[in-house]
Amino acid sequence: MPPLSKSVLDSIDELAHRIPRNFLIGAATSSWQIEGSSTTRGRSIWDDFSAVHGNIRDGAMADPACDHINRWEEDLNLLSWLGVDSYRFSVSWPRVLTHGVGENNDSGLAFYDRLIDGLLSRHIEPVLTIYHWDLPSALETKGGWNWDGIGDAFAEYTEVLAKKFSDRVSMWATLNEPWCSAFLGYADKFMAPGKGDPAAGFEAAYRLLVGHAKSVEVLRQYNAKDVGLALNLTTFIAEDEGAKAAAHHMDGIMNRLWLDLLAGRGVPSDIMENSRQFTDWSFINDSDLAAISRPIDWLGINYYNPQRIASPNDDGAVGVGNGQRIDAFPGTPPITFAPKGPLTEMGWEVDAASLITTLVATQERLPNIPLYITENGGAFPDLIVNGSIDDQDRLNYYASHIDAALIAKERGIDVRGYFAWSLLDNLEWAEGWTKRFGLFHVDRATQERTAKSSAYFFRELNARRSK
Ligand code: FCB
Repeated sequence: MPPLSKSVLDSIDELAHRIPRNFLIGAATSSWQIEGSSTTRGRSIWDDFSAVHGNIRDGAMADPACDHINRWEEDLNLLSWLGVDSYRFSVSWPRVLTHGVGENNDSGLAFYDRLIDGLLSRHIEPVLTIYHWDLPSALETKGGWNWDGIGDAFAEYTEVLAKKFSDRVSMWATLNEPWCSAFLGYADKFMAPGKGDPAAGFEAAYRLLVGHAKSVEVLRQYNAKDVGLALNLTTFIAEDEGAKAAAHHMDGIMNRLWLDLLAGRGVPSDIMENSRQFTDWSFINDSDLAAISRPIDWLGINYYNPQRIASPNDDGAVGVGNGQRIDAFPGTPPITFAPKGPLTEMGWEVDAASLITTLVATQERLPNIPLYITENGGAFPDLIVNGSIDDQDRLNYYASHIDAALIAKERGIDVRGYFAWSLLDNLEWAEGWTKRFGLFHVDRATQERTAKSSAYFFRELNARRSK
């Protein structure tokens, strides 16, 4: 019997009956966060970044992560147990091209080949993210996402994957959350490669989208099905009049910059103006802009929390959450992050209503593109009691956000699917193992996987849907 109360089961029933037949329910992971086995692949910027003392909260590095390279079959069985339609995973670039370009690593490709076939044999659709932040170190040496050859290198890597997998992958995402790569990694120092240079952040943002465009072109040549990308979009809430201009600027950097470039409107004029103190944008050209605006088949939204900000107060920063850093929004006037409780372990405000406003705003700025929630979930203080983890806080988070996604759909927003972050507790980037997002608890020492109540929630939800 699942450890779920009668009232939880009733609410699952209610949600299950509102989920349309062709709506995808899935779970997501990424290569760096789960794979381990770093010696069987090339080096990435996250190997370099995590080797620097102080960058990762608990000092955790690539190995063993969830040892997924060796335990992938067990992990696919967990997906079957959940009854999900699809699985979103990412490929490690240096696992298939050790130095980023040049010779393929056949054993790396063979791993993803087995994984994809393993999914298909379990009737689970493979959703492949090409780049989820683990850039080969060899390419960072050339300038990484600031290098003018990076787009072509990304196209070469895409071609290796497209040639081998375009017949079997159901959906492709070129990039995951390029805002994080550009602004947390290049403008700020919070993520790899940890540059801390605002100009580098704006240039990386643009070159990431150039890479996306070149990757889409290759995928089209190979008739890849359903090509898109995943952005971390959200709603900015200004708590007072004085924070409004800052909220608009931050919304520009996190949301409008990406959506306007994809929609063919170019860099928003206010962002162009407010960033002049850092960059002259001389790296932009019209043919790239045109390529970036070529249509995609879907857009993924990774949503976790709204960004609530307020005028600075004398007490200093209040409740600053993970990644809520002013340096990641270059050109923002002084503000303070002011998330309201309840907060997750990441310090992120729990607010399902902002998922609805984010979906509505996104469909307005980039119309006629089907939307998927490609990540959503929470880190909570999971307590193991007699071998079980009754994570009602995570379960409620999921229930309220799936409800919000369905409300948006019922109001006419074209939302086609929802992916839980994450299948497994894993390496949460700069937080290491200190923040757990899994449906399954992972014991770091024994690698044992244990279903939390939230995993039973998804299993019941999938079992009760009409498919
Ligand atoms: C997103 C990342 C994902 C995970 C979640 C918590 O920003 O895409 O890898 O770390 O946050």
